[in-house]
Amino acid sequence: MRKTLKVLPFSLLVLAILSFFYIDGNNAESKDKGPQQPILFSHKIHASDNEIECQYCHNYVDVSPHPGIPSVKKCMGCHSQVSGRDVEYTTQGGQTINIKNEIQKVKDHWERKEPIPWLRVTGMYGTKSAGLPEYVRFTHKRHIKRGFECQTCHGEIEKMDVVRKEKDLTMGFCVRCHEQNADNEEHLTQLKDCLTCHY
Ligand code: HEC
Ligand code: HEC
Ligand code: HEC
Ligand code: HEC
Ligand code: HEC
Repeated sequence: MRKTLKVLPFSLLVLAILSFFYIDGNNAESKDKGPQQPILFSHKIHASDNEIECQYCHNYVDVSPHPGIPSVKKCMGCHSQVSGRDVEYTTQGGQTINIKNEIQKVKDHWERKEPIPWLRVTGMYGTKSAGLPEYVRFTHKRHIKRGFECQTCHGEIEKMDVVRKEKDLTMGFCVRCHEQNADNEEHLTQLKDCLTCHY
């Protein structure tokens, strides 16, 4: 009897410690659950603190394997002059970088003429892999022209140090918005047509 009494609190303690780590791990994830990118590129620093427009970097006319992600050349448009302050910066997720050293990595890529191998994070939310499934048709153009904010589909990217998926862009999400924004019956039929979004 005495033995079990001693054993019991210990196992409870183990459980408490385990659940602490479990909960703590979950918290860390919800703050910064984007992937570890080759260079820490903060949207908060660029889009909010320095007020650079989204479209300045993400112009969709570029034809490349990752159409919307800016090239190293684009980065160097600023970073050939902006070397950055020699100060530490801690991200929302608790990673600490030195601003100047991180910018130096961009310059190194430029000198080696190597693209930065960014990992994709958005794409078809709700599916396991990043990027839309091949059978889905999606282009930004008409949506942007129509005046939808980037945030409607991507969340508040300008507040993030590390980009993460914030919205589940499932078929339901697309179709609901198509239903709400059709100009008339004919347009509604077109926007709900399977072949509008599927090959
Ligand atoms: C329009 C100008 C501009 C462009 C274009 C630009 N940057 Fe920056 N970047 C800045 C400024 C300003 C800072 C802040 C420097 C400081 O605080 O000392 C900065 C900071 C940084 C930093 C350090 C802070 C952080 O985000 O980790 C990195 C790394 C960086 N830029 C990478 C890039 C990359 C990669 C690109 C291209 C995809 C790019 N920048 C494009 C202006 C620019
Ligand atoms: C200075 C250039 C720059 C600016 C300004 C900028 N971005 Fe980005 N963006 C990048 C780079 C570089 C990446 C790839 C690295 C990453 O995911 O952080 C990226 C990635 C993204 C992604 C993830 C793409 C994917 O599937 O991996 C989204 C979504 C995005 N940006 C939206 C925005 C929005 C919305 C704004 C304006 C609030 C914005 N960006 C402003 C350079 C920029
Ligand atoms: C109507 C919803 C919607 C709006 C509005 C929207 N996006 Fe997207 N975005 C998507 C979807 C869906 C994808 C995934 C596309 C794919 O995987 O082919 C995506 C992918 C991206 C990517 C990944 C890179 C690429 O092109 O492959 C970037 C960067 C991006 N969006 C930036 C932006 C910016 C910046 C804005 C605002 C100017 C914006 N998006 C507005 C839905 C949207
Ligand atoms: C925020 C509202 C909204 C969301 C979310 C949205 N759409 Fe749309 N989409 C529209 C509207 C409105 C139009 C009609 C634009 C026009 O005709 O000017 C449209 C048009 C289209 C078109 C036809 C025009 C073109 O670009 O070829 C396709 C395809 C399309 N959307 C696919 C998608 C897919 C796939 C998704 C989900 C990943 C999606 N849309 C999410 C509002 C939205
Ligand atoms: C507005 C755009 C849009 C329209 C219209 C649309 N879909 Fe989809 N559909 C998507 C997107 C985006 C996905 C991928 C994301 C997902 O699975 O939710 C998808 C996925 C699917 C899948 C795969 C689901 C799975 O779980 O693997 C099927 C099957 C499908 N759609 C059938 C249809 C049929 C049938 C119609 C017509 C009645 C239709 N879709 C209309 C956007 C659309």
